[in-house]
Formats: sequence, C-alpha cells, structure tokens
Amino acid sequence: MTQTIPAPRIAHTLTVGENFIDPLGFHDANPRFSWQLPEGTKKQSAYHIQVKVDGSDAWDSGWVKSDQSTLIPYGGALLQSRQQVEWRIRFRDQGNIESEWSYPAHFEMGLLCNSDWSAQWIRAVENTPQTGPDAPSEPASWLRRSFKLSGPITQARLYVTARGLFELHLNGQRVGEDHFANGWTGYHKRLDTLTYDVTDHLNNDENELQATLGKGWYAGHLGWSNSAGQPEGKYGRNPELLLQLEVRYADGKRQTITSDEQWQGTNDGPILSSSIYDGEDYDARRPVANWQPVLADASLGQARLTPKPFAPVRIIQTVECYEITEPQPGRFIFDFGQNLVGWVRLKFPIQHDQKITLRFAEMLKADGTLYNENYRSAKSVDTYIAARDGTALWDPHFTFHGFRYAELSGLPQGVRPFKNWLKARVLHSDLPRIGTFTSSHSQLNQLQSNIVWGQRGNFVDIPTDCPQRDERMGWTGDAQVFCATSLFNYDSHAFWKSWLGSMRDDQLANGRVPHVVPDILYDGGSPGWMDAATFIPWELYIRTGDIQVLIENYVMMQRLVRWYRSKCVDGLPAKVVGFGDWLEPYAENLKGTTSFDILSGAYYIRSTAILAQTAQLIGRSDDAQRYAQEASAARKVFVERYFDADGKLQNATETQTSYLLAYGFDLVSDELKQKITPHLVRLIRQADTHLRTGFLGTPLLARVLDEAGEGELACELLFKQTYPSWFYPINQGATTMWERWNSYSHENGFGDVGMNSFNHYAYGAIGQWMYERIAGLSPDPAHPGYKHFFIRPLISKQLTSANAQLLTPYGKAASTWELADGKLVINVTVPANTTATIQFPDGRADQTVEAGNHRFESKRQA
Ligand code: BGC
Repeated sequence: MTQTIPAPRIAHTLTVGENFIDPLGFHDANPRFSWQLPEGTKKQSAYHIQVKVDGSDAWDSGWVKSDQSTLIPYGGALLQSRQQVEWRIRFRDQGNIESEWSYPAHFEMGLLCNSDWSAQWIRAVENTPQTGPDAPSEPASWLRRSFKLSGPITQARLYVTARGLFELHLNGQRVGEDHFANGWTGYHKRLDTLTYDVTDHLNNDENELQATLGKGWYAGHLGWSNSAGQPEGKYGRNPELLLQLEVRYADGKRQTITSDEQWQGTNDGPILSSSIYDGEDYDARRPVANWQPVLADASLGQARLTPKPFAPVRIIQTVECYEITEPQPGRFIFDFGQNLVGWVRLKFPIQHDQKITLRFAEMLKADGTLYNENYRSAKSVDTYIAARDGTALWDPHFTFHGFRYAELSGLPQGVRPFKNWLKARVLHSDLPRIGTFTSSHSQLNQLQSNIVWGQRGNFVDIPTDCPQRDERMGWTGDAQVFCATSLFNYDSHAFWKSWLGSMRDDQLANGRVPHVVPDILYDGGSPGWMDAATFIPWELYIRTGDIQVLIENYVMMQRLVRWYRSKCVDGLPAKVVGFGDWLEPYAENLKGTTSFDILSGAYYIRSTAILAQTAQLIGRSDDAQRYAQEASAARKVFVERYFDADGKLQNATETQTSYLLAYGFDLVSDELKQKITPHLVRLIRQADTHLRTGFLGTPLLARVLDEAGEGELACELLFKQTYPSWFYPINQGATTMWERWNSYSHENGFGDVGMNSFNHYAYGAIGQWMYERIAGLSPDPAHPGYKHFFIRPLISKQLTSANAQLLTPYGKAASTWELADGKLVINVTVPANTTATIQFPDGRADQTVEAGNHRFESKRQA
C-alpha cells in the first residue's frame, strides 16, 4: 500500500498592509501582517510571528492565543525608511496542532519622510516659444544626467516622483512598467513616491539617467475653467522631477545621485504635446536636443512625500481589432469590440515624414463615422510623424482615451490597413482581480461584464466618474455608490484607502467634502456625494475588516456630521442644495424630483449613524452615545415631518427614492417600514414596473425591495428589458455601464451630448446585490472581512443557476446554486479560519458551517 506524505501544513499567502506580497517601497512604518491557513484547517487557535529587520531579530510575538489571521499589528519599534524586513509565521489549529514555520516573506520600506530626500526639484527651462501649425503646445520635457560608479555594486534603489508625470530610462532601459505612476493626489499636500530596484540596470562605470516629463494632471488641461492652451495648470505650470538614486557598493560604501543642478533639460523633442484629455502629438523626426542646464529648487515644498500606498497604473491587457471599416475615404475605423480605456499601439509600415492621425470614440454614428461629441472639450487625438521609412512602433506616453473605436487616417492613397496595425492597450490601476459572478442568464452576465469594464476604465489611479470627456475626476457620489461593488471585483482596499487620504487632505475648512477628490472644483456640499466620507470607510471596514480605515477617517466623518448639524433648522438640515437624485429618468432637470431636504435629511442621519457605530468600534463610547442620540432625534423629526400614519410620504413630492432612503437607511421603524412598502410598490407599478430613480436611489432599489419581502419585484426590475432598466443599454449594444439608461437607443439615437458618457460606473452599483443575493455571498458586518459570512441566495424565476467566487482575506469563498431535476443544489466554499451561515431559500432552518466545501440539496423552492 502506498502512503501519501501529507504536504506540510504551513501558512501561505503572507501579506503586509493592505494585501501586499513582498512589496518594495512599502509605506507603513507600523505594518500589519496577514496570512492564509492551509486547506483542511478549520480554525486557528494561536499564532506566532517572527520579524527580522535588516537581518537582526526585531520582534517575536511569542505564541498568541487568537483566531485572528489578518491585519495583526507589528509589535516592534516603528520601521524606518529603507529597512528590509523578513517575517514568518506559524500557527496552531483547532486541535492545537502546531504547524511548521511558513516560508519567509519580505518587504522593504520606501522613503517615509521628507527629510530622507536630499534631491532638489528640477525642471527644464522653457525653450523660446515656436510658432506655426506644428509648434508644440503642451510639450513634454526631458531631463538627463550622466554619472560614474566606482566599482561593483550590490544594491541600487531609485526613489522618484514628479509634479506632473514621468517616465524614466536608465542606460536606455525603461525603469519599471508603470504609467502615470505617481498618480493624482493633491500635489501641494501629498506626493506619492515610487521605489524601483535598479541594481541590474547599472554599469560599473558610465551611466545615464533620462527622464521624460508630461504635464499630466498637475500642469495640463484639466477641468473646465482651464481650457487647452492656457498656460496655468490646476496645480502648476511646468512639470518637475524629484529623484534619488541610492547605490551600495560591494565594499559597503554608498553613493547617492540626486536630481540637482548638475542635470540638463530641454523641451525640444518628439513629444510636441501630451495631455490627459487632448491626446499626444509625436514627431519622431525631432530628436531630443538643445540641452540646457536645468532650474533646480532646493526647497522640497509643503507636500508630504510618502511611498505610493497602492499599485500604479499598468498595461493590463491588449485587445485585438476585429473589424475595420472605411465610412469615409481614407478614414479607417478599427473596432475593438469593447469600450475600454487606454490607448492604441501602432505597428505598421510607414514612410518618412508621413503623418498619421488617430481619433477615438466610444460609439459610431448611423453613417459609421465616429461619435465623439460627448468628449466635450477633450480633443483626444493622437498624431504620429515618422522619421524614416520602415516600421513605426509607437505607444503614447501621458494621455489616455476612453474608446471602442479608433480612426486611422493619413495613410498614402490606396493603402488599406491590416487589423494588426493597431492594438488597444488597456490601462488601469493594477489591482488583483478577486471576484467573479456568473449565472445562467446571458444578459445578466453581460451586465456583470459591463460593470467590471466600467470599473477597469474608471480606476485609473483614482476612482473617476468617466474616462473619456473633459472630466475624469474623482466624483465622490459616484464612488460612494460603487465602492461596495468594486470590492467584489478587484482588491481595491489599498486603492480606496489612498483616495480617502486625498479626501481628508482636501476636506473643506467648514467640513464639507468636495464634489471631486482630489479637489479641482473647490466646491462641495452635495448630500450623497459628501457622504463618501462616511459610507466608503464603512464599506471598506465591513469588507476587509480593516479597523484602521475607521480610525484614520474618524475626524473627517465628525467634521462632515458637524457641518450637516450646522445646517439644521428644527432638527434637520434645510436648504442644502446639491446634485439631487442625479439623472432620474423622465425628470425635467438633471437633479430629479426627490426633495433636496429629504436627501440632506436622509444622508445626515445615515452618516451620523455610521459615525456612531464607528465611534463604538474604535473605543469612543461617549461619542458613540452622543451620535446615536443625535441620529435618533433626527430620525424622529424625519418620520414626523415626512410620513403620515399610513406610511405615505407627506410634505414632499412622492418619489421612489424618498421611500428607498427611508427604508434603506433605517430612518423609520420596522413597523413603519411595513407601511411604506406598499407605497413604494405602488409608485413602481404606476411607472409600469420601472424604476424612476437616479444616482442615489437606484443603488438602494433591489436591496430595499428584497428586504421588504418584494424580492420578486426586485428581480422583475433587474431583468426588465425596456427603458429605464439595466438591460435596456445591453439591448442597445452596451459593453460598459452608461451614464444614462438611454445614452443611446436604436430608436432615438444619442442623448444630450452635454452629459453622455458610455463608461460611467454609477449604475453598476447593482453588482453588489448580484453577488450578495443573486449568487448569495454576503459579508456579515458583525464579523467584518468575511471572518463570518452569509450564503443567502435568492432563487429568482429568471435563473436556473448563479455563482459567485471571492478571494476574501482568508482565501476563496464561493456560493453556487443550481436548479436541476426539480432540486435546488447549493455548493458553498468556506475558507480556513472562517465560518458561514446558510440561509436557505426554501425556509429550512439556518445552518452554520466551518471551513471546507459543502453541498446542500433541497426540494425546489415553491
Ligand atoms: C459627473 C457625474 C457626477 C455629477 C455631479 C457629472 O458631470 O459625470 O458622474 O456625479 O457631475 O452631479
């Protein structure tokens, strides 16, 4: 008989902070450790962590009796810049059996403080302006320096950031594979720095560093008040570089090369113009020339220089063209079959001096030409001029486009392009994909795909409203409604945490939260938008278990609630006019028909309730009590003012959203919830069983109906084919979420170009309910981070199966159900060290199960 030797039962997937595996340039001096337990383990009963810093023992937790295996705070002295950390963990399982030590994990700290920087900010002196049609408008700049090393090295780290955007080459080799790497933060408050290992890029003697800088969000065309051509950017006028290369020699000596006055710079080179909104003009005939000494500034400025706390944007996918059309002579339209965000790579035979032009669009007009009026003032055009005969190979540098179609023109007469001449490069923040949702319904699967593509296209360093027009900003309301869904699809824990940092930086003096973060509109105060400051930390906490998110954002939340309170007249905020229930279908204006006072009252109460719960969780029980009282007093006023004894809305226009807020935000008692449900249902029926909700009401619709015992109605709305509904855009060919349900229709063509994005994730907020109820995988707020979760599928008559999988902080969880042979089969995967409670749709008693795979069978639900 052969004996199988069991695999060593050790912990795996060791991560630090917000799920980083062996990061370089780590940001947190007081890191937290997480790991996953091997399959077959039910539960951890104790853990033991050992940490070495720069090779010396730094912390030994000893055996700690605990079932916590995520986000364990480091117990040693605060880590310092550049330190190299090695750590490992062992555990005892449910039977107190001790595991072996895990394989070691490693990380290295970035530069944590401004005082770590001896570099100076440098920039190219502007060349004398040129005139003429081909004169550069927003040229890139180039900076360079050569230097000598004096012998073999063992380690080299390059620390870098920019006011603007950078691309670096060391000895002709590109450093890293990131784009827009330092990203968009409030540049005068915080600048994210990158750390690269360049040990293998360096020669023992002569070396050259070269940087290309683009204006980017810092100095380029951005927002509305600053159209292209105007010199001032939102944050500054010229891009600048801050760089520090630290080398260790084999003999232990060190050398640092920094950005300083020894560098040379120029604006004279091939990138004539490069702008996030407008595209890039590249003239390959122009070598980088006219090098001059740079301008150097020894003052580092006010901004905190801190290591980037999440993954930069990278090229994630390449999409091939599947069809070329020629609706106008010489203008070839490449269809990539998917609305996406990024750029196209050129690779084709070209002759010297030939100029080709690329224009983009998300949709085509009836005559087959590009529809890009919806880009508004964003030009979104790339041009390329070849220097010589041969093959052109080109990617732009500091721009991105939202498109499905790219139009190529400028080819010699009679030349027809091949499909492989252009390839679409999909760019977004490089976050791990952690969730999938599938079902037996092709339109529902298309909806999920549209949601995921909407997320990909709008997670370009910050969460944006849309990726194509002259906007692409961190609109807080859109983020607020989409955050929970996003956390199912991609591991966006660190992404949101970083953005919340920018929100704290930009909170307005009186406590209002800006409309967009980073703030370039210098305004805020819209209910539902501002409340990103409370809702997002809360969702993040529930789905990751990261209490630090609540601690970090507590003061911001308090300041928001204080502002709402300052607006109160007779117990509720009055006359707070924001964006309303934005884009409610059939409403006469963009802001919808739900009363502004109901919106501000509802969000004030919900934010205060979240604040009270937060206070309780972070150990501020006095505050907790005070805020809970404040919320309950306001609730009382809300109920008295807005509901009659039958639960019908009074003193305001009756809308679906008003009822949804009252119910969904727990503004009314359970008893009143029962009374308001028929009124909500009546409004839906009056609308021929359609939604009449905008950005704020729509995300609540399915959840509230479901909780109110109207799950079937929720499904009826979700599976509705006619306008307005989630499937309506799919029936019009959508491959992403649209800003409006009818941004385009076969019947009526395009909507108003003023507000007509074909890549807007807000209505994708339904994704949360699809995972949580259609497939049935729901977090338990009482045991955040999926330590305990629910399996509670809603078996709808439109489906015969649904499946959700999610890589939780503990490992893979899954919920699958299927109707077959008159039976309902539910398959559940519960990761090690967690439990799940199955709430059966057939009314059977709940059942709680431990880690492992479980199968349940029952008679088909009546
Ligand atoms: C954006 C929205 C945003 C809204 C505020 C629009 O221009 O694209 O998504 O939330 O303004 O009303």
